[in-house]
Amino acid sequence: MSDADKIVLTGIKPTGMPHLGNYVGALKPLIEQSKSNKTFMFIADLHALNTISDAKQIKQHTYEIAALLIALGLDLNNAVLFRQSDIDEIYQLNTLLMNVTPKGLMNRAHSYKAAMDRNIANGIDVDAGVNMGLYTYPILMSADILLYNSDIVPVGADQKQHVEFARDIAGYFNNLYGKTFKLPEPVIGQDTGLVPGLDGRKMSKSYDNTIALFAPENELKKKIMRIITDSKLPEEAKNPDESTIFQLYKHFADEAEIAEFAEMFRRGGMGYGTAKTMLFEKINSVLEKPRAEYERLMANTDEIEQVLANGAERAKIVASKTIQRVKKAMLGK
Ligand code: ADP
Ligand code: TRP
Repeated sequence: MSDADKIVLTGIKPTGMPHLGNYVGALKPLIEQSKSNKTFMFIADLHALNTISDAKQIKQHTYEIAALLIALGLDLNNAVLFRQSDIDEIYQLNTLLMNVTPKGLMNRAHSYKAAMDRNIANGIDVDAGVNMGLYTYPILMSADILLYNSDIVPVGADQKQHVEFARDIAGYFNNLYGKTFKLPEPVIGQDTGLVPGLDGRKMSKSYDNTIALFAPENELKKKIMRIITDSKLPEEAKNPDESTIFQLYKHFADEAEIAEFAEMFRRGGMGYGTAKTMLFEKINSVLEKPRAEYERLMANTDEIEQVLANGAERAKIVASKTIQRVKKAMLGK
């Protein structure tokens, strides 16, 4: 099979606005790939249920992710964009896969182990606060992956184990019932380089140093002005590779602009205030149009619902075929 024929699938949990690191490291490459490959992209609202119990919040975050992907130019011809919970077959496959999944596999899941370790460190029951949604999270994720015959699953490093579990579960199933599922492969994007946050460390929710992808213009400016720098004077020469301002700029500008900005650092004569203003203008020029489209969509959620309904219709065609195959293999009907 050539790479272009491979089916790509990924799910995004609706837990809030992504930051610029998520955009450069995950969303942008996905959107690029959706131009060349058949792509299933869904908002994993069922996966958010183990942590969010407010329906309004889940719905709002679902709209945010959908609007954001549409605004960033996701190719809706190649890509099937839908909401996980809209496809009834997912609940069915989840139940069916339970029976070929060893309990021991779930015990080894990183996310469950992390919850246990926290409880042990706090001297409380190992399973305190752990619901079955969290414990069986990898089974639902396997169902997502296998339902749509995925070949490639692009994920962050923290999700790699889950995709490997999907591959294991597909293997157990095929051994027991005959070849029913393809074996999916995790793909971890790594060539984009890390986007630094306001304090120079990796931009990450855990460090509270992020810039939201579609922060309003004034907030974007304020955040950029807060980037931590050293105390070099404007006239001094500066090393661009040591500057968070330059490292961020690199992800948004073209080759010629990057070379010119680097030269301005090395030459001296540019203060950090000026450099930050240039960075703001660059990022803003890239995000301005998609941000306006995002805001327009968020004010017209019916339009988002329409895109999701259309995606669900297309996703169901594949899902129903898979579930028929699985029911035949397991139940003889
Ligand atoms: P966070 O560190 O904020 O919790 P996640 O772990 O949820 O981010 O990351 C989701 C996706 O975004 C992953 O694919 C990850 O590789 C990518 N990503 C996150 N932060 C960065 C960053 N600073 N630079 C590049 N990619 C990033
Ligand atoms: N578990 C993923 C996350 O937390 C989201 C997700 C759900 C997913 N189902 C998926 C990712 C299937 C890839 C494939 O980020």
